[in-house]
Amino acid sequence: MNPEKIAQLKEQDRSLIWHPFTQMQDYQAMDPLIVERAQGVYLYDLEGKAYIDGISSLWVNVHGHQKEAVDQAIQDQLKKVAHSTLLGIGNVPSIKLAQALLKIAPSNLARVFYSDSGSTSVEVALKMAFQYWQSLGKKQKTKFICLENAYHGDTLGSVSVGGMELFHEIFRPLLFETILIKDFSFKQAKVLFEKHAFETAACIVEPLIQGAAGMRLMPEGFLSHLRELCDQHGVLLICDEVATGFGRTGKMFAVEHEKVKPDLLCLAKGISAGYLPLAATLATEEIFQAFLGRHEEFKTFFHGHSYTGNPLACAAALANLKIFEEEKVLEALTEKIQVLEQGLQDFLKHPHIKEVRQKGLMAGLELIKDKKTGEAFLASEQMGAKVCYAARRHGALLRPLGDVLVLMPPLGISTETLKELLNILWKALEETLPS
Ligand SMILES: Cc1ncc(COP(=O)(O)O)c(C=O)c1O
Repeated sequence: MNPEKIAQLKEQDRSLIWHPFTQMQDYQAMDPLIVERAQGVYLYDLEGKAYIDGISSLWVNVHGHQKEAVDQAIQDQLKKVAHSTLLGIGNVPSIKLAQALLKIAPSNLARVFYSDSGSTSVEVALKMAFQYWQSLGKKQKTKFICLENAYHGDTLGSVSVGGMELFHEIFRPLLFETILIKDFSFKQAKVLFEKHAFETAACIVEPLIQGAAGMRLMPEGFLSHLRELCDQHGVLLICDEVATGFGRTGKMFAVEHEKVKPDLLCLAKGISAGYLPLAATLATEEIFQAFLGRHEEFKTFFHGHSYTGNPLACAAALANLKIFEEEKVLEALTEKIQVLEQGLQDFLKHPHIKEVRQKGLMAGLELIKDKKTGEAFLASEQMGAKVCYAARRHGALLRPLGDVLVLMPPLGISTETLKELLNILWKALEETLPS
């Protein structure tokens, strides 16, 4: 692309687009990175510079970009129908995908409700849980138990059950109240269930690892503890696997690590291999049955989005699952996870790395100003962002969560490229914060 065209596109990007989760005052003052194409785990900008996609294009990409089987599946579907609604009628890829998802999901789940983002998959689960109890006549069960530092998306329902001050506080007057478990406390969870179960519809949790909170690891057994408390007290368990689903933690779903069966399971991001917006909320037959009745009973679930069950996205998702099976993607992860684990150990020696946290191919490295005193960097120093900009110069695309450097490469990354990604991060760290 010629330099004038590149300059024009960059100018239009700065002047026309309002980028999400981005301080536009800073953005407008900088040279933006505009992706033009991608291949495998590499993204290419307008100038043709290559970057390792170190965060899977915001945790969505699974097998790499331009994966032939996914490209082909979308093209094949395009020759049939690009979109048709699921409101009152069906389409072929959504049926096949429902079957494929239920085959790999926990065995108690029996029904698939489609939507189009992680946030909507959570919104759907919350409303289903709420209406389920209303239908059963337990009108007082209107509340939700959730976790401190949780992140479940940006729509108002999902923000309500979130627990991240930075993102959520400003919207507090618009949100419904929740019951918050702090510090992954087993004891507090028990006390809160005992006190509030009678008025609680569901407990919602990101299984094993809170991604957006900075890759915060849950203590072992906490997820099964929540399952037990839900069972004991008649509360539904919603597991939000929007980030952890589709292999990120080393198993297809994170709940498998503790053999937990949720009543509602939220899936998005990696579901379509990171190609198209698609989400699904999986429910038990028991929940589904509570919504059945004569029309005039109005037990219908009055919720649905225009692109619900989009055939192109479902075709991509089917191809995604086929690749998992045919290329034995989960089996191949063991070695990659080990390489990441070993590589991260070296970072611990760095004077400005406080902690590394990892589950599968999800990792967070927490920066610290002074290890001895425990002093953190000021938010205004934007140290996480600075390290990521340095990584960008060295050919890796990363996006921090505050002062937590996030690594979440596509599952399809090779061990060599994974090592290269770690090398780039080390270089970026040394350049920004010399040891
Ligand atoms: C656990 C979890 N739930 C929900 C969401 C929201 O997903 P989306 O951005 O697709 O709405 C995210 C996004 O990062 C997430 O990590």
